[in-house]
This record gives sequence, structure tokens and C-alpha cells, in this order.
Amino acid sequence: MRRDVRGRVVMVTGASRGIGRRAAERLAKLGARLALTARSADDLAKLAGDLRAGGSDVAIFPGDLTKPGDRDQIVTAAIDRFGGLDVLINCAGVCSFGEFSTSTEDIVRQVMEVNFFAQAEMIRVCQPHLTRSFERARDGWRPAVVNVASICGRWGIPSMSEHCASKHAFVGLTEALRGEFERFGIDVLLVLPGLVRSDDLNRHLLRNEGKIHLDFAGAQPSAEVADGVVRSLLNNRTEAAVGFVSWCVWLFRRLFPRAVRFFMQRKVWRFARRERASGQSTVTS
Ligand SMILES: NC(=O)c1ccc[n+]([C@@H]2O[C@H](COP(=O)([O-])OP(=O)(O)OC[C@H]3O[C@@H](n4cnc5c(N)ncnc54)[C@H](OP(=O)(O)O)[C@@H]3O)[C@@H](O)[C@H]2O)c1
Repeated sequence: MRRDVRGRVVMVTGASRGIGRRAAERLAKLGARLALTARSADDLAKLAGDLRAGGSDVAIFPGDLTKPGDRDQIVTAAIDRFGGLDVLINCAGVCSFGEFSTSTEDIVRQVMEVNFFAQAEMIRVCQPHLTRSFERARDGWRPAVVNVASICGRWGIPSMSEHCASKHAFVGLTEALRGEFERFGIDVLLVLPGLVRSDDLNRHLLRNEGKIHLDFAGAQPSAEVADGVVRSLLNNRTEAAVGFVSWCVWLFRRLFPRAVRFFMQRKVWRFARRERASGQSTVTS
């Protein structure tokens, strides 16, 4: 199945920067009508201004997705503005980089709030509107939920325990809903990026003290990952590992799980060696 998003109403969460922002830019070029949300109203307004200048129909709905009142208000306002909703792309997220033994309950709860509970509840609020999109369609259109998780949702990575836990939960929810939502005519798609070179990634980490070597400089640009997200939507890909490293981990964990474990351990050892050599304890590229 090939999905044409021209004229369709697409809500993108996490649209103020990074993958969500790039996905919005790509969707605007394809003629989608965009409902964009994140907390940073100024960044959203600037993006919307740029996209409108290019002729796109865009509206912004700033809010904090961890707050039930904000979620309801965002979706209600978007429905009032556009008259319906055809696609939800769940791209909002936070990350914490550091060892579990030195982390806190507050951090694990914050990560789960954004990466799991907020996304789950956004899907719950949007589902009746997506169902209506299917019921109204006369051209074989199928609405979709696109969940941007992470390869961390398929393989636990050292120094990212909270993130991995939240993404595993999100992957589990995605797989369960895929079956449940079949009766509503809604496709539930999963995207698994690897390490991404996002806007100011380090600045937005809840914690940046991981003891593993991560090559942020060599990571995939967010625009490429956003292309993968949009391709998944257009081609209705049930599950897509985006980027070479993510794809390798995805494939190798099935075929050679011990090799993937060795690869991860090697990253821990390399960091330990670097730390001993330089006395540093934060992420470097
Ligand atoms: N970067 C990576 O290496 C990587 C790898 C694999 C998967 N991913 C996943 O891909 C998704 C996007 O990541 P990214 O790299 O684009 O991250 P990013 O640049 O940090 O963007 C995260 C987005 O989420 C929004 N957000 C965060 N907390 C929110 C909240 N409480 N309410 C509403 N919006 C909130 C942020 O906007 P505001 O701050 O304005 O609210 C921002 O737009 C995330 O789910 C992430 O876990 C990222």
C-alpha cells in the first residue's frame, strides 16, 4: 500500500526541533496539512512561519504532553482548526545518558512520562478522530499512527537504561495496538532510529554522564532519520530500523545476539580506556 498525504491532516509531536521538525518540513513539501506541537511556542511559530511562506497549511498547538489538560486541548484545538485528523506522528521524546546505579527515581519517572505515558495517552485521545478519518474515506485511505521509538526499544544499551526501558514499553504498546486498531482501520507503524545527530542533543539530555563511548559526530543527521519516518508512513512499513547502525543492530540481534552484546561491551571498554587516559567522564565524539 502507498499512502498519499496531500491534503491530509498530520499531527507531529516534538515538532519544535530535531527529527519532528525535519519530518514536518518534509511532509509540508508533500502537501500535508500540519498540526504541530511541542512546548517551545517560539520555535514552533518560527517553523510554521517558514512553512507557510512555502505555501503550506500549518497550525501550531504548543503544550506539555505530560499534562492531560494540554493533550486534550491540543487535540481539540487541532480538530476545530482542521475539521479532523488523518495521521499522528509521535516524535516527542527525552533522553538521559548515564548509569542506572547513579541515577534517580525522578529521572526514570520523567523519561517514562514523556517517552511512554504521554505518547500512549496522545494515541488514546487521537484514536476516535483517526477512526472517523477511516470511516469518512471513500478512496481506500487508511489513517496511521507512526511511533518514533528507537533501536533502544529492541536492544538495551548500557548507560541508557531509562531510555531503553521507556522505548521497550513504547514498542510493546505499538505492537499490541497494531492488532487492536485493525478494527478501526488505523495502521500503527514503528520507526527505530539509531544514534541521531539532532539539534543540540547534549543540551536536552536530562543527564549526560554515561560511561560508554558514543560517536555523536558520526551519528545520522536528523533530516535523514526524518526521511525514514516519512517513508515509513508513505509505504506503510510496519517496522523500520532507520540508518545503517540501527539496521545492523536490528538484524544482528536476531541472527547473532552474542556479537551485538560483544559490540556493546566493547563500547564500554573503549570508554573506560579513554577515561583512564584522559580523566574525562562525559560524552565526547
Ligand atoms: N537523538 C537520538 O539519538 C535518537 C535516537 C533514537 C531515537 N530518538 C527518538 O526520536 C524522537 C525525537 O528525537 P530528537 O533527536 O529529534 O530529539 P530532540 O531534538 O531533543 O527533540 C525532542 C522533541 O520532543 C519535544 N518534547 C520533549 N518533551 C516534551 C514534552 N513534555 N511535551 C511536549 N513536547 C516535548 C521537544 O520540544 P520542546 O522541548 O519544545 O517541548 C522536541 O521537539 C524521540 O522520541 C527520541 O527518543 C532519538
